[in-house]
Amino acid sequence: MIDPYGSSVLLPRFISNRQKRIELIKEASELPSIILNTSAAANVVMLGSGYFNPLEGFMGLSEALTCAEKMRAKDDLLWPIPVINVCKDVAAVDKSRRIALIDPNTDHNQVLAIMDVDNIEPVEAEQLRFMANHIFSTTDLEHPGVSTFINLGSHLVSGKVEVLNFSYYSSDFPSTFQTASQIRDKITELGWTRVVAFQTRNPMHRAHEELCRLAMERIDADGVIVHMLLGKLKEGDIPGDVRDSCIRLIADKYFPENKMLVSGYGFDMLYAGPREAILHAIVRQNMGATHLIVGRDHAGVGDYYDAFEAQEIFKDKWIKDALDIDVFCADHTAYSHKLGSIVMMSEAKNHDKSDFLLISGTQVREMLANGIKPPPEFCRPEVASILIKHYQS
Ligand code: ADX
Repeated sequence: MIDPYGSSVLLPRFISNRQKRIELIKEASELPSIILNTSAAANVVMLGSGYFNPLEGFMGLSEALTCAEKMRAKDDLLWPIPVINVCKDVAAVDKSRRIALIDPNTDHNQVLAIMDVDNIEPVEAEQLRFMANHIFSTTDLEHPGVSTFINLGSHLVSGKVEVLNFSYYSSDFPSTFQTASQIRDKITELGWTRVVAFQTRNPMHRAHEELCRLAMERIDADGVIVHMLLGKLKEGDIPGDVRDSCIRLIADKYFPENKMLVSGYGFDMLYAGPREAILHAIVRQNMGATHLIVGRDHAGVGDYYDAFEAQEIFKDKWIKDALDIDVFCADHTAYSHKLGSIVMMSEAKNHDKSDFLLISGTQVREMLANGIKPPPEFCRPEVASILIKHYQS
């Protein structure tokens, strides 16, 4: 199996020994604490589940600034987006060396992790803007990732974490949320060697489904893992439980048994285009995938990134050399009226735009909200039914 990213064995920050966990939870109840923001909580879950291997915790200011600017973390490790814990009020943990990190997304102030504090440092608004500009290639507050990032707070609290649970992800998505170790175990159990990962924040449309098939065929893969984002999205995106139902339906009905695994990870969408694509590759290498599909407008939003910018970034030799996972680059994929099948547009000879069935996201949302099913060449009718129910609820 492919090595994890940056180490020969996966080193998740979750405390898997139950007795140790109980002791730490008891200790946490007596420690000074801070309530995390939702982005930091998602970072903790990623550290705990091994997806952010080999990182051990939150970066300090100087590491975060270098990471944002040069994509280099400590020891020159390629890392595309700073993993930071930005807080608004640090009075409760001032000068503390060991603190409890409280989950903002579950009731009863559940402790998510314990941190050995390296540093508590002020971060200026200008420094957050500097980082945002490098990560998102813009400081436009209309960009959903930028507006979240810039308003996170005024202090960075950094240090190693010991993770005690997986927040709402394990309770809200018991059969879909999985850690990188669990996925590695499943790959071993199935005896897969060539494994394609499909990142998604959407329900599966026909193009998504076909991309998975095409990638599997061309890579000669043993199977594909649809690895969906289960965290927070921008307004208007479809919630995790609805996407989960759509994707499971496709896997069960349209793929042979044990060819498409459905799984999810606990992270909020950043909409950081190319930078997020690199993070997606690291996450998928950590879970044991040998290939990641990167198609059109991967992790994009609005017109902030060129349609294939997220593929271009992987051509950088330094980035390519740092990763063991390969990227499967897919062209814009759509149904061809001429061929009667879903194809990569650049591979369809003698076609012009009108030969393809192209429906925009806005058009699809309008149709579904009005109870109209998009053509079956765009969206499976059973998936459309689930989505109509969601839009009309
Ligand atoms: S993403 O934000 O998670 O990237 P989405 O779930 O829509 O968004 O896409 C998942 C993957 O499928 C991404 O790699 C994206 O580039 C690719 N993709 C989605 N639709 C198409 C399409 N019509 N043609 C080519 N690639 C596509």
